[in-house]
Amino acid sequence: MRIAILGTGYQGLVTGTCFAENGHRVVCMDRDADRIALLKQGVPPIHEPGLEELIIRNMEEERLSFTNDLANAVRDSLMIFLCIGTPADEQGRTDLSGLFGAVRQIAGAMDGYRIIVNKCTCPPGTADQIEEILHEHAGHPADVVVNPDFMKEGSAVDDFLRPDRVIIGCREIRVNEIMKEMYGPFLRTGKPLMAMSPRSAEMAKYATNVMLAARISLMNQMADLCEEYDADIAEVREAVGSDARIGPTFLFPGIGFGGSGLPRDLAVCERLAGENHIPHELLTAIRTVNENRRVRFLRQILDHYGDTIREKRLTLWGASFKARTDDVRGAPALYIIDGLCRAGAAVTVYDPVAAGKLGERYGDSIAIASKYYPALEGADGLVIMTEWNEFRRPDYTRMGELMREKVIFDGRNLYTPAIMQSHGFRYYSIGRKTV
Ligand SMILES: NC(=O)c1ccc[n+]([C@@H]2O[C@H](COP(=O)([O-])OP(=O)(O)OC[C@H]3O[C@@H](n4cnc5c(N)ncnc54)[C@H](O)[C@@H]3O)[C@@H](O)[C@H]2O)c1
Repeated sequence: MRIAILGTGYQGLVTGTCFAENGHRVVCMDRDADRIALLKQGVPPIHEPGLEELIIRNMEEERLSFTNDLANAVRDSLMIFLCIGTPADEQGRTDLSGLFGAVRQIAGAMDGYRIIVNKCTCPPGTADQIEEILHEHAGHPADVVVNPDFMKEGSAVDDFLRPDRVIIGCREIRVNEIMKEMYGPFLRTGKPLMAMSPRSAEMAKYATNVMLAARISLMNQMADLCEEYDADIAEVREAVGSDARIGPTFLFPGIGFGGSGLPRDLAVCERLAGENHIPHELLTAIRTVNENRRVRFLRQILDHYGDTIREKRLTLWGASFKARTDDVRGAPALYIIDGLCRAGAAVTVYDPVAAGKLGERYGDSIAIASKYYPALEGADGLVIMTEWNEFRRPDYTRMGELMREKVIFDGRNLYTPAIMQSHGFRYYSIGRKTV
């Protein structure tokens, strides 16, 4: 099958590369010329484990190519996957202008029948709008499929190759059969392909993300209770997660969720409910609890130093919104960095892969370290923001020797309070007593 992928961000690049890996001829198109120039040299503009080698292999096998030319990509392909950013503002208003602009361009370039697959996260009813645009502007018939994406940054390649399920929202049985054929190789372990209405498929993505967000916010509220009653949230989490009705994933307490998906999808659902006069207190609570996490965490740091904060240098370990990605969109670390800088502290950040993105945002207003122990030299405190594996079992003695003041604010609960205490650290964590 000849496939065009529009948008070469986290989603589009993984989708296109994984389809190419399965033998399809894939052309990935983006309007960002720098991005395409990098990709043509086999250099991914994002960090995603396992992606680079797949890109290079499939380029060498001539199954994967990159272009800025949308019209040519559309003319060469039967299926066109939309993988374009669909951000929303804080009020949950989704910006679909990029997506609809691309659909208009597709319509203008079509020289025959096409299948348009929307993988972007969009409010219910968007597929109908895409159909209307095509109906109005295209001189040829097209079918529209909603195919929401559930990959997780940091394990996106693996998630795409081995999904929990694939959802297809389309009214045309014939198109569903083509989609089944496309995704068949990824579902060999018996995971389901679910055909449903386009609107259910659109809503399924939001419902999933809201459910995940709810689990995290609930655990964070329980963490606050634990702190007050001298219980340990790590022990409580194990007990809760071992209940077969609940399961262990997405129960880790911490500084709260970030990224470009969960916060946005919550805000969009709140807006959709509000516009339709549907009470949505629970959605608002999930968001508010999450937003308060970072506020409270920053307050804890500022309270520790009081007026002396202006003379202090704080080191952050981790900036990406989660481990194994360089994505800092919506990352709690940004809020903490901004707050510390505003308070007058000097800030040094070490992140294994997000240094480039931090540099673009902060210039030289913060120091960016290239190694994690040197980042601690002379620090008055360490703030842990991302659960990178390399931070999990460091040399505590070496850390203590490098730091001026032995204080750790752990937003990810990586360490055991008693061990930190035995090494002479003041150790703040989440849902456990400060030692
Ligand atoms: N990132 C994820 O983990 C993830 C997971 C599931 C779903 N999604 C959804 O996938 C979609 C894309 O997300 P992303 O994280 O890959 O975004 P991204 O911002 O990383 O990438 C979007 C890309 O689209 C390009 N683009 C924008 N308008 C274009 C146009 N008119 N023509 C061609 N290219 C255009 C941009 O230049 C950019 O490279 C969103 O709807 C998102 O919600 C993302």
